[in-house]
This record gives sequence, C-alpha cells and structure tokens, in this order.
Amino acid sequence: MEAKAPSESFTEMTEIVMPQHTNTIGTAFGGVIMSWIDICSSIAAKRHCGSVCVTARIDALEFKAPIKVGDVVRLTARLNAAFTSSMEVGVRVEREHAFTGERATCADARATFVKLGDDGKPGQVPALLAESEEDQRLAAEAADRRRRRRAAEGVS
Ligand SMILES: CC(C)(COP(=O)(O)OP(=O)(O)OC[C@H]1O[C@@H](n2cnc3c(N)ncnc32)[C@H](O)[C@@H]1OP(=O)(O)O)[C@@H](O)C(=O)NCCC(=O)NCCS
Repeated sequence: MEAKAPSESFTEMTEIVMPQHTNTIGTAFGGVIMSWIDICSSIAAKRHCGSVCVTARIDALEFKAPIKVGDVVRLTARLNAAFTSSMEVGVRVEREHAFTGERATCADARATFVKLGDDGKPGQVPALLAESEEDQRLAAEAADRRRRRRAAEGVS
C-alpha cells in the first residue's frame, strides 16, 4: 500500500449560510457547521484511504466567531496523521464576505475516521508521507494525542 502525502487528500468545500441554516439571532446554527465539518473531513479521509470510513470521533471543536446569514463558508480539511486503521483530520472553518472576499477563522476541529474493509471491520490505511516540517509537526502532535487518549482509556 503506497504512502500518500497530505496534499493528495486536502479538501476544500464551499457553502453559503442560508436562512434555514441559522439560529434565532441570524447566525449559523452550530449543528449545521458540525455537519459540514463531518462531510469535509470525511472526504479527506476517504481520499486518503480510498475506501469507506466512519467517523469515530470529533473533538477539539471550538467556535471562535459567528457566521452571518449570507456569508460564504470555506471549510478545509487535511490529514494530520494516519495510524493502523484510523486517521486524524484537522478542519478549519472560515467565513468569507461574499462581496469583499475578506476571510476570518470561525472554527477549528479534529476528527478521527476509521477505514472499514469489505468485511466491515477496521482495515489498514496507507501511511502518511511528511512533505514538510509542518506535516511532521502535525503528525507528531496527533500521535501524542492518540498515545495520551489510549493511556487514559487503559489501551496499550
Ligand atoms: C469506529 C469503529 C469502526 C471502531 O471499531 P472497533 O471495533 O472499536 O475497532 P478497534 O477497537 O479495533 O479500533 C480500530 C481503530 O479505531 C480507533 N478508534 C476506535 N474508537 C475510537 C474513538 N472513539 N476515537 C478515536 N479512535 C478510535 C482505534 O484507536 C483503532 O485505531 P488504529 O487501528 O489506527 O490503531 C466502531 O466503533 C464504530 O463503528 N463506531 C460507529 C461509527 C459511526 O457510526 N459513525 C457515525 C457515522 S459515519
């Protein structure tokens, strides 16, 4: 199974906040943004592993600024790390003014996906090739998070 670089699965998704996506104060409803995060990150994970995969975890989701009705929303997802059958994907959500193009980061999240083989069981994913120091740093941080989480759960 050939290793792949994060650039091969990088995913960009564009949405626009319509009235049906808003809460009672005219800004994007958090659950809608979460759904877009899940879709964008799952595309990156599928591009990396070339197979069906399921969301095992979404964490570190932080809403930093509101997104208004009429704003364009840009989501970007990149593979941070690939383990045995699981992959950590980092997601960024930016709002973009539809006319000026001015952007601001509104949310960040991390999602873990697990590849499923034809038998429906977790299957091996391709290794992640680090092309830059940033790729190396993100992979090391993801591995450290995974190590800590498994230790807290009592998994060796
Ligand atoms: C995710 C799922 C396939 C894992 O199955 P499992 O039998 O627990 O698998 P394992 O214990 O062998 O773990 C497989 C991998 O998943 C990872 N994993 C499992 N649960 C996890 C969790 N909650 N968070 C992060 N990683 C997790 C393990 O660390 C392991 O990673 P590795 O192979 O890279 O070492 C299973 O829990 C599941 O189907 N969950 C429901 C998924 C779902 O319905 N998502 C929403 C719709 S897409």
